[in-house]
Amino acid sequence: MNQNKDISDENYRLAMGRLLVMYTQVDYLIMRAVAERIVDAPDDESRLFMAKQVGDESKHVRIQQEWIKRFGTDNTPVFSELQQEMFLAHFRSLNWLDFLTDMYVCIEALGGEAVEQIVPMADPGTRESLKVPLQDEIDHVEFGLGQLHDELVKLPEAESNAYLQTIGSRLDFLDDTLHGLGIDVPGMFEAVGADYQNVVDMVMFRRQQILESLAQPLAA
Ligand SMILES: [Fe+2]
Ligand SMILES: [Fe+2]
Repeated sequence: MNQNKDISDENYRLAMGRLLVMYTQVDYLIMRAVAERIVDAPDDESRLFMAKQVGDESKHVRIQQEWIKRFGTDNTPVFSELQQEMFLAHFRSLNWLDFLTDMYVCIEALGGEAVEQIVPMADPGTRESLKVPLQDEIDHVEFGLGQLHDELVKLPEAESNAYLQTIGSRLDFLDDTLHGLGIDVPGMFEAVGADYQNVVDMVMFRRQQILESLAQPLAA
């Protein structure tokens, strides 16, 4: 595998540019969706954390925008205005438990895992631009999984087990939605030098780990 991609490679620049724009748009949407949810958070601890997360995502958007400018690639949005509105509407429609699952398991943890898979193949500038964002994502995931766990232990055991069973299908649904938007994610990943099947395997492995970690303390 080519470890240090040369940004003079036109195909690489094009694909990495699209991935960077997509990642930046997702961070922007996370920022807005989480900001809207602060009002529904269950306690002050969560409100304080979510406000910090909103600040983090805003910082990530700035870092990425600056890097996209220097990278000198097409900065046309990947997601249209309508798709962005659909994303926000989806998160608004969710109850707190489903919000935690979709935001923190699917987008933050598994989306982040996919981005992690790209980093070793990226050029040095891109890798540098992802350093702070990926570091902060670890905190966001920890918060989300902790909250999800707290919510699940409040439920009767049968109910929380049933909910865990549905998490897998919520993730499939979101995955299908992304494919349904006609965004050629496999093509983009391949063009930056990532083995797409390998990325999928790693994401599935992480998903299994998360489901097990959520189930374990419940069963105990
Ligand atoms: Fe972020
Ligand atoms: Fe995040």
